[in-house]
Amino acid sequence: MKKNVVFFEVRGGSDKGKDGYRPDTMPMVNALKAKGYDAEVIFFEIGKMDEIYNYVKNNAIAYVSRINPGNLKEENEYFDMLRKLCKDGIVPMPHPDAMIGYGAKDALVHLNDTPLVPKDTYAYYDMESFKANFPKTLAKGQRVLKQNRGSTGEGIWRVQLLHPLTKPVDSLPLDTEIKCTEAKDNHTEIRKLGEFMDFCHQYITGENGMLVDMTFLPRIVEGEIRLLMLYDKPVNVVHKKPASGGDNFSATLFSGAKYRYDDPSLWKGLVDTFLSEIPMIKQKLGNYDLPLIWTADFILDTDKDGKDKYVLGEINCSCVGFTSQLELAPKVADEIIAIINRAKK
Ligand SMILES: Nc1ncnc2c1ncn2[C@@H]1O[C@H](COP(=O)(O)OP(=O)(O)OP(=O)(O)O)[C@@H](O)[C@H]1O
Ligand SMILES: [Mg+2]
Repeated sequence: MKKNVVFFEVRGGSDKGKDGYRPDTMPMVNALKAKGYDAEVIFFEIGKMDEIYNYVKNNAIAYVSRINPGNLKEENEYFDMLRKLCKDGIVPMPHPDAMIGYGAKDALVHLNDTPLVPKDTYAYYDMESFKANFPKTLAKGQRVLKQNRGSTGEGIWRVQLLHPLTKPVDSLPLDTEIKCTEAKDNHTEIRKLGEFMDFCHQYITGENGMLVDMTFLPRIVEGEIRLLMLYDKPVNVVHKKPASGGDNFSATLFSGAKYRYDDPSLWKGLVDTFLSEIPMIKQKLGNYDLPLIWTADFILDTDKDGKDKYVLGEINCSCVGFTSQLELAPKVADEIIAIINRAKK
């Protein structure tokens, strides 16, 4: 049996260490070697795609994708190559369509008929549906609009009315004054609804363009809770508390949120509920095998009986790192081997 595991990376980008690799890549390569597997890193380059494809097809048993989508212009071509490798029987970590299914913001909409996500969560792929529905959802209460591309809070907007409604309405007029706060840095702008929706065209247009419209969860001020998952096991919890004050709502690091790292045993209720929901999540997001390393973020809400309830805010799975916990590398290698063994059974 072939025993070569290929790690795909791309040259450049702010996620690289001094050796030119992502800092958590070589620890995985070395841990696999220590366990009797061959492992190597291949830098994806569009000009060498055919050569790379043939080499991996003929020499590898599995691949691990370590490419941050923001660092790769030719993501579609890269995904097409991965799809071909999957068809050739190379074990995917993860399948490109799993990266899309779990990682895209509209994963929330695919889960809006489960307890994980509020029912009134919508995705817009064109301006017509956005302009038709958003004035209605905003009329019911504060919303968060999330673009799909970008990260660290860019194009993630908390939207609220500047002046509260004096009586309920079904839909808001386009000249309604709104307060828009961006998660990138918690800055707030006063805008008009119609003009702001036009401004959001940039998020909807082009490849993978979409906007997700979700209710604003005020308990975000208590923090966002990130589960770091190694396949089906939680290995770390990050509690991210937004900087206090004003309309601040962002749990992203550069906006000034404070991070605390906890052992998953301290979050037993959340962890147990989430683990029980994983089969359903998997089925709703396309039935692909779970990603090797991924995260799920939760925000507290209150259910109708006044009890705490966790709402899923997003999943990341394209290139989640464990650089701050490199001692996990042998465990990750064991998980890679287990995934290969299950796939090749
Ligand atoms: N429904 C919501 N209610 C309240 N706050 C929210 C909501 N959704 C998102 N946020 C806040 O906005 C921040 C950014 O949103 P989100 O994590 O979805 O976007 P992102 O830019 O993809 O972030 P990341 O860099 O973590 O991938 C969250 O960390 C959270 O603080
Ligand atoms: Mg996030």
